[in-house]
Amino acid sequence: MKYKNFYIENYGCQMNISDSDIITSILLNHGFILSENLDKANIILLNACSIREKAELTLKKRLEQLKFCKKNKKIWIGIIGCFSKEIKNFFCKKKMVDFFVPPDSYREIPNFIYYSIMGMQYLSYIKKRNETYADISFVNVKTKQNNKKITSFLSITRGCNNMCTFCIVPFTRGRERSSDPDSIIKECKRLYKNGYKEVTLLGQNVDSYLWIEEKNMNQNQKNVVDFSKLLDLLAKEIPMMRIRFSTSNPHDMSNKVLEVISKHKNICKHIHLPVQSGSNKILKLMNRKYTREEYLFLVQQIKNIIPECSISHDIISGFCNENEQDHQDTINLMNEIKYNYGYMFSYSPRPGTYAYRKLKDNVPQHIKKKRLQEIIDLQRKHSFYRMQEYLGRVEEVLIEGESKKNNQYWYGRNTQNLIVVFPKKFFNIGDYAYVKIKNTTSATLIGELCI
Ligand code: SAH
Ligand code: F3S
Repeated sequence: MKYKNFYIENYGCQMNISDSDIITSILLNHGFILSENLDKANIILLNACSIREKAELTLKKRLEQLKFCKKNKKIWIGIIGCFSKEIKNFFCKKKMVDFFVPPDSYREIPNFIYYSIMGMQYLSYIKKRNETYADISFVNVKTKQNNKKITSFLSITRGCNNMCTFCIVPFTRGRERSSDPDSIIKECKRLYKNGYKEVTLLGQNVDSYLWIEEKNMNQNQKNVVDFSKLLDLLAKEIPMMRIRFSTSNPHDMSNKVLEVISKHKNICKHIHLPVQSGSNKILKLMNRKYTREEYLFLVQQIKNIIPECSISHDIISGFCNENEQDHQDTINLMNEIKYNYGYMFSYSPRPGTYAYRKLKDNVPQHIKKKRLQEIIDLQRKHSFYRMQEYLGRVEEVLIEGESKKNNQYWYGRNTQNLIVVFPKKFFNIGDYAYVKIKNTTSATLIGELCI
């Protein structure tokens, strides 16, 4: 086949990156070639995200640029992944995209490409609702393009059953399903053998990971693996591999998981625990299945069981019906916890979701913006405060690469997922170094090697 060079761009979260690695593996197995840059490619895949309006706007802008490339060169453009019905209709009308492939149909991407090249539409694809891609040994796009990588993502659950009212994920990614634990362990071992030192287990809701297998039908025996058991198995099987995971839904997190984290050195001491809001009224409207009090209790449990654990958050400001008191509830909750870091967004209604259909997006834009800024400023203060706690401490850092700001410095992370930079000496990417922290910003720990 003449046109076989492909290029993938990501517009979303860690799950998108992990999906791109699966797609790359599928395409390489079908004789396609991964291009290092766009100029060499004939097939351009845009891995979309529809969680917030902003990501969709970026995608629209990108397609406007690519429209010009299409005039000068034979290229075929596919939108893949987490796209909404609306965005598909928008691009279909404009005739800017050759094919669309949803998250459960990646195995059929080669067919979509062949048909597009022949000027036809591939219509007969099936959406496999139980697809986990567990049997696919993924190929890391960056490593394939010759960037040494020692950390990797691995999806262990796909989809989500939670139906938070603001969120489009259950519509774009479908119902939740978990991958076979044997395939997860096998894949992690393969990663370790190939030089990877850290894996992040991904799922919209990792704590609800569940695998049930009939072992012996006659004696009614079952093999049940929940998230705590999976973590325990992985930590024991690959003791030299750092293990991270994301995202933990507060509703599903159990003490059993916390105890396993505290028991194993190679399970990193960081929990990403999106709260979304500190107001019970708003949490209820969001259909988050915990109260502010339950969330605070969970944070206390984390601190009791894993005292050195860092905690990060997601917060949405300006959700439907949020008033000043609700906003202050969020501010107070942040003050109470003083998170290490967080991701903060202003609410954008997503077509198809419950909130879009049934609730009013009634917080004026300028108030949303003002509240978001307050939240961001406060988080910066808290991050700085938390970083200060590390001054004088010696941290074990896994070196991931050169610091972007200064190539005389190494860049890595400690177990709490905090960024550490220190002057280069000895060592290499993938090594562990012990670093004494001398200085900090709100985002970075700065130190010196302990020799
Ligand atoms: N599964 C994760 C969240 C996945 S989406 C969880 O349990 O929370 C990542 C983050 O995007 C969410 O936590 C939320 O803070 C944000 N987000 C999702 N939908 C949004 C919307 N419509 N507007 C603004 N932020 C949104
Ligand atoms: Fe979205 Fe809530 Fe699931 S934020 S991904 S519906 S846990």
